[in-house]
Amino acid sequence: MRHNNLNILSIILFLSFSAVAIAGRYGGWAAINDANDTHVKEIADFAVTEHNKQSGENLKLESVIKGETQVVSGTNYRLVVTASNGTASKKYVASVYEKPWENYRNLTSFDPALY
Ligand SMILES: *[C@@H]1O[C@H](CO)[C@@H](O)[C@H](O)[C@H]1NC(C)=O
Ligand SMILES: *[C@@H]1O[C@H](CO)[C@@H](O)[C@H](O)[C@H]1NC(C)=O
Ligand SMILES: *[C@@H]1O[C@H](CO)[C@@H](O)[C@H](O)[C@H]1NC(C)=O
Repeated sequence: MRHNNLNILSIILFLSFSAVAIAGRYGGWAAINDANDTHVKEIADFAVTEHNKQSGENLKLESVIKGETQVVSGTNYRLVVTASNGTASKKYVASVYEKPWENYRNLTSFDPALY
């Protein structure tokens, strides 16, 4: 009896871990390993260009410091970038939603980084 209970317990544990692993992959945020990746740079460029259009500022992307992605129906990017207005360089957090198969990108937020 005790044995059976243990087996059931391990099955429940296994299923919970699997669920967490799947949830982590779909819908969770994962760190971008290579912030210099061409596509990540492209997303960052899009974010700065789009922010300039919306705000009338004239920022230039300097670098992507780090970022995370979230796979949904498409991909959400959350990137920490540095950009310069010509005289001063600042850190920003840019969020972009991309559906690559539709060639669709939207800047969902672009704010000065608070740290
Ligand atoms: C990204 O590229 C810059 C400049 O080319 C370099 O200084 C930096 O070390 C690179 N970072 C990584 C994580 O490869
Ligand atoms: C750039 O930003 C700095 C700091 O916010 C500001 O003092 C300066 O006037 C800005 N320059 C331009 C060209 O917008
Ligand atoms: C793009 O993102 C902004 C901010 O989240 C949102 O208000 C807007 O509706 C989005 N545009 C489209 C075409 O989905």
